[in-house]
Amino acid sequence: MPPFSVFKPRLCVILLVIQHAVHVKPSNVSGNNSPDCPSEKINKYSKEANSKYLKYLNLIADAQRDYKPCNRDRCGCHASVISQDLKMFKEKGISASSIQSVKAKGTKYQVINHKVYREQNCMFPSRCSGIEHFLLEAAPGLPDLELIINTRDWPQIPKNYGFFGPVFSFSKTSEYNDIMYPAWAFWEGGPAISLYPRGIGRWDVHRKELGKLGNSSKWEEKIPKAFFRGSRTCSERDALILLSREKPELADAQYTKNQAWKSEADTLHVAPAQEVSFEEHCQYKYLFNFRGVAASFRLKHILLCKSVVFHVGNEWQEFFYPALKPWIHYIPVDSSASKEQLQELIEFASHHDDVVREIAENGYKMIWNHLRMKDVSCYWRKLLKKYASLQTFKPSRDEMLVEIKG
Ligand SMILES: *[C@@H]1O[C@H](CO)[C@@H](O)[C@H](O)[C@H]1NC(C)=O
Ligand SMILES: *[C@@H]1O[C@H](CO)[C@@H](O)[C@H](O)[C@H]1NC(C)=O
Repeated sequence: MPPFSVFKPRLCVILLVIQHAVHVKPSNVSGNNSPDCPSEKINKYSKEANSKYLKYLNLIADAQRDYKPCNRDRCGCHASVISQDLKMFKEKGISASSIQSVKAKGTKYQVINHKVYREQNCMFPSRCSGIEHFLLEAAPGLPDLELIINTRDWPQIPKNYGFFGPVFSFSKTSEYNDIMYPAWAFWEGGPAISLYPRGIGRWDVHRKELGKLGNSSKWEEKIPKAFFRGSRTCSERDALILLSREKPELADAQYTKNQAWKSEADTLHVAPAQEVSFEEHCQYKYLFNFRGVAASFRLKHILLCKSVVFHVGNEWQEFFYPALKPWIHYIPVDSSASKEQLQELIEFASHHDDVVREIAENGYKMIWNHLRMKDVSCYWRKLLKKYASLQTFKPSRDEMLVEIKG
């Protein structure tokens, strides 16, 4: 992987600091000078302008100083997540009774003699099928194991719950002890919007198509606006929608319908907008990613546009999120950011085109190089092997389960 040009924006920060110093000191802003003095005004404004953006440039410089590129081999960029999620089982191991105690939290699976078995019923068949694609692929190299996979959006094992057992969930916050697995939507299922009625699915296909588009898209030709389309699954999205209504020159953000839509109240009192393909997203320079119920499936797709991703909130995680670093691969946005804060951040981006363009390039590279389908498969394999090694019992075939075949 080519090294990031670590020093460019940093130099830029240093220059700004010098400018800042030169402007401010001689002007004696705090003094009693006439308020009408024009040169005084210019200095004041440039001071404000610089210090307003300086904090962002400093954050970028700090992030670049601390950033260590990860190891591409054997899904190494995501390995720390496996250790982190399994850490709590290290001491006592995973017993049959601890699995039994969380059985109701998800669907029971077994791998016995390299064959995959599942409870007869699955709450979301396409989600199970998306998961089983990876289980079947990994099974030839796996020891016998038994696990509970939660196919709901929401994690199941809150940290302050007392006793817990191992439950696999695709997304969680730091308040949960679930073990993260790569979401079913890498293969099948995912949000079924009208453009993808059977769910987004097939990450291998999307990655190639969007990766090509990202490479062929020209930065200079992208529309310099913040863009978002999605349904109002979460009110964290409102500030950007409202900013877009007031300042359409800065943002184009609109709500679409979802299955729960009943009236225009559900799209903040405006008619719902059409859903927009990922390809169309790529025409815009600044792309907003909000969480939905849990983590959003959108993030990995829009990072391939070579546009800058504004990622809102860092609470909800998927297994590959920790490899993505704020200010290196995306611009982080606080989930409670106001309209004014969003405006300032978008204006910062438009005033620092080269700086944010590099963030766009870095984001693309991270996903393109380290979130290949083989990295996803590798993660499943590594996770299950490590999990199996913590089992304190030898799983025996549960006759209530049915064999899953490819
Ligand atoms: C700033 O201006 C005030 C009033 O004119 C003066 O008393 C003070 O010494 C000046 N400070 C500097 C650092 O020049
Ligand atoms: C995009 O460009 C990069 C760098 O030149 C290259 O490594 C990558 O394979 C390209 N992606 C696609 C989809 O061609």
